[in-house]
Amino acid sequence: MATTQTTPLLILSFLLMLDSIPISSFSCPLYQKQALLHFKSTLTTIFSSVSNPQDSYPFEELYSWNSDYDCCSWDHVTCSRTGTVTELDLRAVVPYISDLVPVFCDNFTSLFHIRSLKKLDISTNGWIGEIPGDGFRNLTELVDLRMRENRFQGTIPSQLFELKSLRVLDLSASNLSGNLSPEVGKLQNLESLNLNRNFITGNIPEEIGNLTNLRHFSVRRNNLFGGIPSSIANMEVQLLDFSGNSFSLQIPADIGRLSNMTTLDLSYNRITGPIPSSIRNLSKLETLALQNNKLSGEVPTSLFTIRSLKNLFIGGEGNSLIWNNKAKIVPRCSLVQISMLSCGMSGEIPIWISSQKDLRYLDLSGNQLEGRFPEWLAKMDILGILLSNNKITGSIPPPLFESGNLTILDLSRNNFSGKLPEKIGNAKSMAMLVLSRNKISGQIPMSFSNLQSLVFLDLSRNRFSGDKFPNLSDSSLLYLDLSYNNLSGKILMTLSRGIENLFLGGNKFSGDLPWNLTTLVNLKHLDLHNNEIRGNFQDILPHIRTLEVLNLRNNSIDGFIPKTISNLKFLRILDLSGNNIRGCIPQELANLASMIETPHMSTSNSDLGYYESVYYTELEIIVNWKYYLRGLSGRSLSLYSFLDLSDNTISGEIPALLGNLKGLKALNISHNNISGHIPVSFGNLKGVESLDLSHNTISGLIPESLAKLDELTVLDVSNNRLTGKIPMGGQMNTMNELKYFANNNGLCGMQIRIRCPEDIPPSEGREEDDEKHPWILWEGTWIGFPVGFFSSILIMGYLLNFQQLFKFW
Ligand SMILES: *[C@@H]1O[C@H](CO)[C@@H](O)[C@H](O)[C@H]1NC(C)=O
Ligand SMILES: *[C@@H]1O[C@H](CO)[C@@H](O)[C@H](O)[C@H]1NC(C)=O
Ligand SMILES: *[C@@H]1O[C@H](CO)[C@@H](O)[C@H](O)[C@H]1NC(C)=O
Ligand SMILES: *[C@@H]1O[C@H](CO)[C@@H](O)[C@H](O)[C@H]1NC(C)=O
Ligand SMILES: *[C@@H]1O[C@H](CO)[C@@H](O)[C@H](O)[C@H]1NC(C)=O
Ligand SMILES: *[C@@H]1O[C@H](CO)[C@@H](O)[C@H](O)[C@H]1NC(C)=O
Ligand SMILES: *[C@@H]1O[C@H](CO)[C@@H](O)[C@H](O)[C@H]1NC(C)=O
Ligand SMILES: *[C@@H]1O[C@H](CO)[C@@H](O)[C@H](O)[C@H]1NC(C)=O
Ligand SMILES: *[C@@H]1O[C@H](CO)[C@@H](O)[C@H](O)[C@H]1NC(C)=O
Ligand SMILES: *[C@@H]1O[C@H](CO)[C@@H](O)[C@H](O)[C@H]1NC(C)=O
Ligand SMILES: *[C@@H]1O[C@H](CO)[C@@H](O)[C@H](O)[C@H]1NC(C)=O
Ligand SMILES: *[C@@H]1O[C@H](CO)[C@@H](O)[C@H](O)[C@H]1NC(C)=O
Repeated sequence: MATTQTTPLLILSFLLMLDSIPISSFSCPLYQKQALLHFKSTLTTIFSSVSNPQDSYPFEELYSWNSDYDCCSWDHVTCSRTGTVTELDLRAVVPYISDLVPVFCDNFTSLFHIRSLKKLDISTNGWIGEIPGDGFRNLTELVDLRMRENRFQGTIPSQLFELKSLRVLDLSASNLSGNLSPEVGKLQNLESLNLNRNFITGNIPEEIGNLTNLRHFSVRRNNLFGGIPSSIANMEVQLLDFSGNSFSLQIPADIGRLSNMTTLDLSYNRITGPIPSSIRNLSKLETLALQNNKLSGEVPTSLFTIRSLKNLFIGGEGNSLIWNNKAKIVPRCSLVQISMLSCGMSGEIPIWISSQKDLRYLDLSGNQLEGRFPEWLAKMDILGILLSNNKITGSIPPPLFESGNLTILDLSRNNFSGKLPEKIGNAKSMAMLVLSRNKISGQIPMSFSNLQSLVFLDLSRNRFSGDKFPNLSDSSLLYLDLSYNNLSGKILMTLSRGIENLFLGGNKFSGDLPWNLTTLVNLKHLDLHNNEIRGNFQDILPHIRTLEVLNLRNNSIDGFIPKTISNLKFLRILDLSGNNIRGCIPQELANLASMIETPHMSTSNSDLGYYESVYYTELEIIVNWKYYLRGLSGRSLSLYSFLDLSDNTISGEIPALLGNLKGLKALNISHNNISGHIPVSFGNLKGVESLDLSHNTISGLIPESLAKLDELTVLDVSNNRLTGKIPMGGQMNTMNELKYFANNNGLCGMQIRIRCPEDIPPSEGREEDDEKHPWILWEGTWIGFPVGFFSSILIMGYLLNFQQLFKFW
């Protein structure tokens, strides 16, 4: 009897012993070791063969893969007890150095020799090419396959659907396209399927309904809190995640069959139709994410009867869901996150929310909520409250800041008024505070000095006043926007040294440019426009080498543009207009590297956290663009390159080298005292859409080379001393806005309907010939000339210049 009882124990201890025996006693099979070494040598070869030695990068990630040792002892490799390789964790083994060192899917095929693999993770390597389906045919033992964050081409190969043992399949953020094949239904053991952030289109196959074990457990950087230091930034959720593709059609009505499902994430697709009421049958559902689709119909309030539900994300852009504002909701769930953006909620912030004791995050942005900010909400211990874009009035209640846990507060675009509570400094965890576009007044509370976690502060477009500012030196501030308030005094400089974005435009800041702007070693965007700032341009600004955008428009800056301007090799937008800058345009300006490159959309493969999404929507650089002041959002900012020196007292000639700035979309040097000629090299400004040289004393001809500017839509050379024929061809044929040529010393050309002497046929002078060469000939080559020509001159008020314009007649 005794033996039968001890046998299991003996076996157990034997197993434990086995586990503790040094693995080296079972060395891995030679062919597996060779396959791994081959993989390593392929990568080493790729990294050592980089053509430009400057870009070379030693490949050291697999240094422990040494042929002298058992491969089971190597990093990234796990073996079974009998010494065969079962797990390879090759996450991010390839250092990602943009496209300098491309690694292709063909370069990892030696791994397919290791048929004993149960778990393979090759995520975050940026590998390029089609997923080698045939290779995966070998890996029939695979239980767990993760390949997220690569740059695959094409669709999910059907061979993956033959891997019958698979429980986890993660192909997220991997550039996959095509449809999701109904064959996915063959993966009967699948518990987790993550396809988020791809380009997969088509319908969600009904066969998904066959995957009864689906209850995926995945760790995902929470979409809303990414980038923000906060205890929930890495919240673990369980999901069936199809977000960020282009799935269309409807949610299968029998989704309710997947009763084991804990997370259903279909967000950021193009799914139409209603939210099926069968969802309430998903009795284990914890996360439901349907935001940013094309869903319609009423939000079923039965959702709130799912007891297990913790995270609810509906609404958002694209959906046109109807919220029953009269429904009496008695939730049985205890929600942790509620995100109901743009759901058509109206009235006061619903009181049922106060029953959600575990609530950590509330987003009701983009509704029509009104009334005051409820005291009960201010007293709930919440980490994130987002109520942007509603109609909430009154002041911000002080208890909100008594919880040391509030991390994100976005109340922008409402009708808040009154002062900010001085207690704001108690909100020690605050990372993002966005209060822009309200009517908040008073001083900026001094207690902001205590907010050491503060990363993002936007108080723009309010009524803040005063000339005393909190000391933000100890904060973690990356972004500070105080623009369009009534702030005065000297520019606040008690800032964290790491700050990247500083927007102070549209206030009454005065005094000299502070010298220690140069100590802000990460400053990228500096916007001080519409203030009363003085000081010499040359002394400080060329030393902030990190600058990408510098806007000093409409201040009282004087001095000159120094040769050292070429230090600013990241500068893409420079606006110095409306100041007192003197001297010449130095030819070093033509060395601004970022104005030479063609701007391109910065493509980021990473999750857009709330920081980035607000950054993109709230950041606004106002530029003078084709005669209108226009706001460039953070998203499009990287696409534009501008140089605006207008409205100063700059003299001298235009350096011919300026034609190097091929990336410029707009060049404005108008309203100065610039003389000399228009350089022929301006024909190289191939990106330029708007070129304003007006109100100077430029003479000579308009160079023929301008006809090469394919993007040109506005050319203003008025009020100069130009002469001769306006060039023809290309976009020049469409430059027929008379006022942009007015007040020169004798321009002619079809654009302004003045014949040039050289175009007058030799027979000219005899009246009968004149009739034989009528205007028709001209009109034949005319493109886009306004029909109501004479009346439009009158309307434009250029009657006075009429005589001069038609001088050559
Ligand atoms: C990597 O794959 C590419 C594309 O198939 C191939 O051209 C290249 O030779 C491979 N590199 C090595 C070192 O095997
Ligand atoms: C599958 O594995 C065998 C070795 O077991 C190997 O010879 C073969 O090339 C592998 N197939 C692919 C497509 O890599
Ligand atoms: C993404 O996939 C598309 C289509 O398969 C392909 O043309 C493109 O090159 C891929 N992108 C990258 C970065 O590999
Ligand atoms: C899978 O789903 C399809 C359509 O929903 C169904 O016709 C088929 O019988 C299912 N297969 C299994 C094995 O359940
Ligand atoms: C839910 O999962 C359990 C095992 O975890 C399984 O026995 C059961 O059949 C599943 N339920 C459904 C409806 O498939
Ligand atoms: C929900 O489940 C119940 C049984 O629990 C079933 O009778 C009902 O038809 C299901 N509803 C839907 C919409 O699937
Ligand atoms: C809020 O902070 C207190 C300590 O200040 C802590 O005990 C509590 O757990 C926090 N609440 C949450 C939801 O993190
Ligand atoms: C904003 O609030 C004020 C009172 O503070 C009120 O008079 C005004 O009507 C509100 N405006 C809007 C658009 O709600
Ligand atoms: C601001 O705070 C920093 C760090 O606490 C301190 O060194 C500095 O003297 C303060 N500046 C002013 C003007 O109070
Ligand atoms: C702006 O602030 C000044 C004091 O600095 C104050 O006198 C003035 O009334 C304020 N203007 C507005 C519109 O609030
Ligand atoms: C700039 O100098 C002022 C005092 O002159 C100081 O208070 C401030 O902290 C300095 N700022 C930075 C970023 O160095
Ligand atoms: C220039 O800035 C002042 C504020 O300093 C503002 O009142 C004025 O309207 C601005 N002028 C232009 C043309 O933007």
